[in-house]
Amino acid sequence: MTRRELELPASERVVSVAALPQDIRDDADLRPRSIDDFQGQNDIVSHLRILLSAARQRGHVADHILLAGPPGLGKTSLAGIVASEMGTNLRITSGPILTRPGDLAALLTDLAEGDVLFIDEIHRLHRSVEEMLYPAMEDRRLDVMVGRGPSARSIRLELPTFTLVGATTRTGLVAGPLRDRFGFVGRLDLYAEDDLATIVNRSASLLGVALERDAALEIGRRSRGTPRIANRLLRRVRDVAQLEGVATVSADIARTALERFGVDTRGLDKLDRAILEYLCTKGADRPVGLVTLAQVVGEEPVTIEDAYEPFLIREGLLVRTPRGRVATDAAFQHLGLQRRGGGLL
Ligand SMILES: Nc1ncnc2c1ncn2[C@@H]1O[C@H](COP(=O)(O)OP(=O)(O)OP(=O)(O)O)[C@@H](O)[C@H]1O
Ligand SMILES: [Mg+2]
Repeated sequence: MTRRELELPASERVVSVAALPQDIRDDADLRPRSIDDFQGQNDIVSHLRILLSAARQRGHVADHILLAGPPGLGKTSLAGIVASEMGTNLRITSGPILTRPGDLAALLTDLAEGDVLFIDEIHRLHRSVEEMLYPAMEDRRLDVMVGRGPSARSIRLELPTFTLVGATTRTGLVAGPLRDRFGFVGRLDLYAEDDLATIVNRSASLLGVALERDAALEIGRRSRGTPRIANRLLRRVRDVAQLEGVATVSADIARTALERFGVDTRGLDKLDRAILEYLCTKGADRPVGLVTLAQVVGEEPVTIEDAYEPFLIREGLLVRTPRGRVATDAAFQHLGLQRRGGGLL
């Protein structure tokens, strides 16, 4: 049996950048292409440099890589960098869109020798698809069932060597057997302000925006530790500067623009503030469960957990306790609220 005979719609299930909305396409334009362009995350970057150089020197493909961390920190960018550093193609797909084992089989059999296969949201792979991935990662083989009922039989296919790069916002949800099959697991942390300022400067020059160093710092400081947000805020600042006919963006212009878009001095947006406000007012006398909190602010619990809480926790504004979420004194202070009674923290 050849791969053509499988006739599975792999190409339909591969995400194409051209099909994405404008802002995401802009993101793709600002994406760092080489490891030298990738700012921050020094530990992961230095480990990747070793892993990739050693693989190149041996003339082998790189080991499988799992990248974990909150949204917008550079997981997809790093997958692209792995491919470009290894001089190979990047094939992109995502856990939830591979609904049947056949979808994965079609993708894998279509890989060229040495390709990098990126599976985003790998914690959302269907169980049957995930099980097919194990022997593919380990032994480059694929066991495909053909036929039905008593005449069904399993056919073994040899795969080209490839590097799997998996990304997840949830390491906790990646099954142990899958996690163990990665040769390297990198956890991305929220970025420091000066790294974000450097990223803003690089993006500004790509977008043709003239920016004072203090303006870049101001944007970096208010970006919730996240490059994707830094780039988004930069675009909004650019819009305001353009409408006001300002040639070079100063820190003042950046501050005014960001305030206009509801981003406060610590970079909290409306939803961050809604979370803290609830915890500091109605929820102030007891820890609040994630589901309640999500309902109150009108977001999905996973979004609160993956995209909002890591920053609020890093900033010391919120803590997770076994019984629920609690606002800290710093949160009361930031919102200008007074804690009633003794308080929880
Ligand atoms: N270290 C970095 N240096 C420069 N720019 C970065 C860096 N990390 C991320 N970016 C910018 O942030 C944007 C978002 O990054 P990316 O899409 O790689 O994040 P992600 O972790 O894959 O997010 P998600 O979990 O939502 O898929 C990129 O388009 C890129 O412009
Ligand atoms: Mg991504």
